[in-house]
Amino acid sequence: MEIVICPDRDKGAAIAADIVARYLDRLQQPILGLATGSTPKPLYHLLAERHHRGELSFRRCITFNLDEYVGLTPTHPQSYRYYMQQHLFDRVDIDPNKTHVPDGLPADPAVLRETCRDYEAKIAALGGIHLQLLGIGANGHIGFNEPMSSLASRTGIRTLSRQTITDNARFFQRSEDVPRYAISMGIGTILAAEHCLLLAFGDRKARAVAAAIEGPLTARCPASALQMHPYATLILDEAAASDLQCRPEYDWAAANALGTPGTNNF
Ligand code: F6R
Repeated sequence: MEIVICPDRDKGAAIAADIVARYLDRLQQPILGLATGSTPKPLYHLLAERHHRGELSFRRCITFNLDEYVGLTPTHPQSYRYYMQQHLFDRVDIDPNKTHVPDGLPADPAVLRETCRDYEAKIAALGGIHLQLLGIGANGHIGFNEPMSSLASRTGIRTLSRQTITDNARFFQRSEDVPRYAISMGIGTILAAEHCLLLAFGDRKARAVAAAIEGPLTARCPASALQMHPYATLILDEAAASDLQCRPEYDWAAANALGTPGTNNF
């Protein structure tokens, strides 16, 4: 794992933007895995700004999002499709047909299972994801893979935890509208990406980050599965890094790295 500790989240987002830009510039058909949530917002903002200045194009790029709620239309303000349109897709030159967010409708298990199989097949047919962006939940989840999810899982239907449903209730007018299910790439799907780039900012993430990096490999902390990934970069701010025990090792490795952040897979 390559651990990059930054003074603050703006610096972290800038480093992440450089890494994404390298893939967009270097590859003929870059395939990006994308995440939603509060963590990648500053990164998407920087990418949109760079595009605006004519420094970056998404024209050749194909994207696959990690997850989507079941039962929300793409125009629902809480849907991840809507989030992506707002924060990135509508702000850059990406071909809308090349953006993929799992379709959580209709909320029929048979149809959703088919959607999940198709999603995996589409990623595989394109040769896999080059760079997978990830956030981390305070409980260590990645995508919607909550603690105790199979570390080998593939894209599938996930039942949201009681905590997640309670947390989300504030975004919906009626409690019966809060999604109970989501479609999520599995941990196995995530691990199949060539390069995983996890961002974590703020002290709310400190425990999960320490468990993911220094704890045992365990389904209790789904992000610890990244310990098995040959090329995982974790960008943290000081607050998210505050529970790490082996900090001097990370600082030494960063100070003596041969390459720029995101190119030092060890
Ligand atoms: C989002 C996702 C989630 C989030 C995680 C952190 O697509 O898959 O795993 O990355 O819940 O969320 P924030 O960034 O809001 O703290």
